[in-house]
Amino acid sequence: MRLLYTIKEEKELIDVAPLLLKEFKNRWVFVFSGTLGSGKTTFIKYLCKRLGVKDGISSPTFSLVNEYECIDGSIIYHFDFYRIKDIQEAYDIGYEEYFYSGNYCFIEWPEKIPGLVPPDAVEIKIEITDEENREIWLQ
Ligand SMILES: Nc1ncnc2c1ncn2[C@@H]1O[C@H](COP(=O)(O)OP(=O)(O)OP(=O)(O)O)[C@@H](O)[C@H]1O
Ligand SMILES: [Mg+2]
Repeated sequence: MRLLYTIKEEKELIDVAPLLLKEFKNRWVFVFSGTLGSGKTTFIKYLCKRLGVKDGISSPTFSLVNEYECIDGSIIYHFDFYRIKDIQEAYDIGYEEYFYSGNYCFIEWPEKIPGLVPPDAVEIKIEITDEENREIWLQ
Protein backbone atom coordinates (compact mmCIF):
# COMPACT_ATOMS: atom_id res chain seq x y z
CA MET A 1 0.00 0.00 0.00
CA ARG A 2 1.16 3.53 -0.72
CA LEU A 3 -0.02 6.58 1.21
CA LEU A 4 -1.31 9.14 -1.28
CA TYR A 5 -2.76 11.91 0.87
CA THR A 6 -3.46 12.82 4.47
CA ILE A 7 -6.40 15.11 4.97
CA LYS A 8 -7.58 16.97 8.03
CA GLU A 9 -10.84 18.33 6.74
CA GLU A 10 -13.29 17.60 4.01
CA LYS A 11 -12.61 20.71 1.97
CA GLU A 12 -9.05 19.52 1.28
CA LEU A 13 -10.70 17.08 -1.12
CA ILE A 14 -11.17 20.05 -3.47
CA ASP A 15 -7.40 19.91 -4.05
CA VAL A 16 -6.95 16.17 -3.68
CA ALA A 17 -9.56 15.25 -6.32
CA PRO A 18 -7.67 16.78 -9.29
CA LEU A 19 -4.40 15.32 -8.00
CA LEU A 20 -5.85 11.81 -7.97
CA LEU A 21 -7.33 12.23 -11.45
CA LYS A 22 -4.02 13.54 -12.74
CA GLU A 23 -1.99 10.75 -11.16
CA PHE A 24 -4.27 8.13 -12.68
CA LYS A 25 -5.19 9.70 -15.96
CA ASN A 26 -6.25 7.12 -18.52
CA ARG A 27 -7.68 4.98 -15.74
CA TRP A 28 -11.44 4.92 -15.61
CA VAL A 29 -12.38 2.51 -12.85
CA PHE A 30 -11.74 3.49 -9.25
CA VAL A 31 -12.79 1.39 -6.28
CA PHE A 32 -13.11 2.81 -2.77
CA SER A 33 -12.73 0.70 0.34
CA GLY A 34 -13.00 1.85 3.92
CA THR A 35 -15.28 1.39 6.88
CA LEU A 36 -18.81 2.81 7.05
CA GLY A 37 -18.64 6.58 7.08
CA SER A 38 -14.97 6.77 6.15
CA GLY A 39 -15.75 9.22 3.37
CA LYS A 40 -16.05 7.19 0.16
CA THR A 41 -19.19 8.92 -1.12
CA THR A 42 -17.81 12.29 -0.12
CA PHE A 43 -14.57 11.75 -2.02
CA ILE A 44 -16.51 10.56 -5.07
CA LYS A 45 -18.66 13.67 -4.86
CA TYR A 46 -15.57 15.86 -5.10
CA LEU A 47 -14.18 13.80 -7.99
CA CYS A 48 -17.48 14.20 -9.83
CA LYS A 49 -17.50 17.91 -9.18
CA ARG A 50 -13.99 18.20 -10.58
CA LEU A 51 -15.05 16.24 -13.65
CA GLY A 52 -17.83 18.72 -14.27
CA VAL A 53 -20.92 16.85 -13.17
CA LYS A 54 -23.98 19.02 -13.66
CA ASP A 55 -25.55 20.02 -10.36
CA GLY A 56 -28.38 17.90 -9.15
CA ILE A 57 -28.19 15.51 -12.08
CA SER A 58 -28.42 11.97 -10.88
CA SER A 59 -30.44 9.27 -12.53
CA PRO A 60 -30.72 6.22 -10.32
CA THR A 61 -31.05 3.62 -13.05
CA PHE A 62 -30.87 0.72 -10.64
CA SER A 63 -30.46 0.86 -6.89
CA LEU A 64 -26.82 -0.17 -7.22
CA VAL A 65 -25.74 2.47 -9.71
CA ASN A 66 -26.23 6.17 -10.27
CA GLU A 67 -25.50 7.92 -13.51
CA TYR A 68 -24.23 11.50 -13.58
CA GLU A 69 -23.99 13.72 -16.62
CA CYS A 70 -21.06 16.09 -17.04
CA ILE A 71 -21.07 19.48 -18.74
CA ASP A 72 -19.01 18.01 -21.61
CA GLY A 73 -21.71 15.38 -22.16
CA SER A 74 -19.77 12.49 -20.67
CA ILE A 75 -21.31 10.12 -18.16
CA ILE A 76 -19.99 8.95 -14.81
CA TYR A 77 -21.20 5.79 -13.12
CA HIS A 78 -21.27 5.61 -9.33
CA PHE A 79 -21.84 2.24 -7.73
CA ASP A 80 -22.58 1.43 -4.13
CA PHE A 81 -22.60 -2.30 -3.55
CA TYR A 82 -23.14 -2.09 0.21
CA ARG A 83 -26.68 -3.42 -0.01
CA ILE A 84 -26.09 -6.12 -2.59
CA LYS A 85 -27.42 -9.41 -1.29
CA ASP A 86 -26.23 -11.68 -4.03
CA ILE A 87 -23.53 -11.19 -6.62
CA GLN A 88 -26.13 -12.18 -9.20
CA GLU A 89 -27.57 -8.67 -8.82
CA ALA A 90 -24.36 -7.30 -10.34
CA TYR A 91 -24.78 -9.60 -13.32
CA ASP A 92 -28.44 -8.59 -13.58
CA ILE A 93 -27.60 -4.89 -14.00
CA GLY A 94 -24.98 -5.82 -16.61
CA TYR A 95 -21.98 -4.63 -14.60
CA GLU A 96 -19.52 -5.42 -17.41
CA GLU A 97 -21.07 -2.92 -19.77
CA TYR A 98 -20.45 -0.22 -17.20
CA PHE A 99 -17.01 -1.31 -15.97
CA TYR A 100 -15.64 -1.73 -19.48
CA SER A 101 -17.49 1.23 -21.04
CA GLY A 102 -14.51 3.59 -20.91
CA ASN A 103 -16.55 5.98 -18.77
CA TYR A 104 -15.47 6.83 -15.28
CA CYS A 105 -16.75 4.28 -12.76
CA PHE A 106 -16.50 5.03 -9.06
CA ILE A 107 -17.29 1.97 -6.98
CA GLU A 108 -18.02 1.82 -3.25
CA TRP A 109 -17.84 -1.49 -1.41
CA PRO A 110 -15.91 -3.46 -4.07
CA GLU A 111 -15.38 -6.20 -1.48
CA LYS A 112 -19.05 -7.10 -2.00
CA ILE A 113 -18.39 -8.11 -5.61
CA PRO A 114 -15.27 -10.26 -5.35
CA GLY A 115 -13.82 -11.19 -8.70
CA LEU A 116 -15.77 -8.63 -10.71
CA VAL A 117 -13.52 -5.60 -10.27
CA PRO A 118 -11.45 -5.08 -13.43
CA PRO A 119 -7.76 -5.91 -12.91
CA ASP A 120 -6.66 -2.39 -13.89
CA ALA A 121 -8.97 -0.63 -11.42
CA VAL A 122 -7.34 1.95 -9.17
CA GLU A 123 -7.86 0.64 -5.64
CA ILE A 124 -8.25 3.38 -3.08
CA LYS A 125 -8.62 2.82 0.64
CA ILE A 126 -9.70 5.52 3.06
CA GLU A 127 -8.71 5.18 6.69
CA ILE A 128 -9.86 7.30 9.60
CA THR A 129 -6.75 7.61 11.72
CA ASP A 130 -8.28 9.69 14.50
CA GLU A 131 -11.27 12.00 14.90
CA GLU A 132 -9.91 14.57 12.49
CA ASN A 133 -7.56 12.87 10.08
CA ARG A 134 -8.12 10.60 7.15
CA GLU A 135 -5.54 8.83 5.08
CA ILE A 136 -6.06 7.97 1.44
CA TRP A 137 -4.09 4.92 0.40
CA LEU A 138 -3.41 3.22 -2.90
CA GLN A 139 -3.79 -0.51 -2.34
N1 LIG B 1 -12.35 13.87 4.43
C1 LIG B 1 -13.30 14.10 5.33
N2 LIG B 1 -13.06 14.85 6.39
C2 LIG B 1 -14.02 15.06 7.30
N3 LIG B 1 -15.27 14.56 7.23
C3 LIG B 1 -15.56 13.81 6.20
C4 LIG B 1 -14.58 13.51 5.20
N4 LIG B 1 -15.13 12.69 4.30
C5 LIG B 1 -16.38 12.47 4.73
N5 LIG B 1 -16.64 13.14 5.85
C6 LIG B 1 -17.93 13.10 6.58
O1 LIG B 1 -18.14 11.76 7.03
C7 LIG B 1 -19.50 11.40 6.89
C8 LIG B 1 -19.65 10.10 6.13
O2 LIG B 1 -19.08 10.26 4.85
P1 LIG B 1 -19.52 9.36 3.60
O3 LIG B 1 -20.97 9.22 3.52
O4 LIG B 1 -18.79 9.95 2.45
O5 LIG B 1 -18.88 7.96 3.98
P2 LIG B 1 -18.94 6.57 3.20
O6 LIG B 1 -17.59 5.97 3.34
O7 LIG B 1 -19.46 6.78 1.83
O8 LIG B 1 -19.98 5.75 4.05
P3 LIG B 1 -20.76 4.40 3.63
O9 LIG B 1 -19.85 3.28 3.96
O10 LIG B 1 -21.97 4.43 4.51
O11 LIG B 1 -21.08 4.50 2.17
C9 LIG B 1 -20.19 12.58 6.22
O12 LIG B 1 -20.89 13.27 7.23
C10 LIG B 1 -19.08 13.41 5.66
O13 LIG B 1 -19.39 14.78 5.64
MG1 LIG C 1 -21.04 5.87 0.83
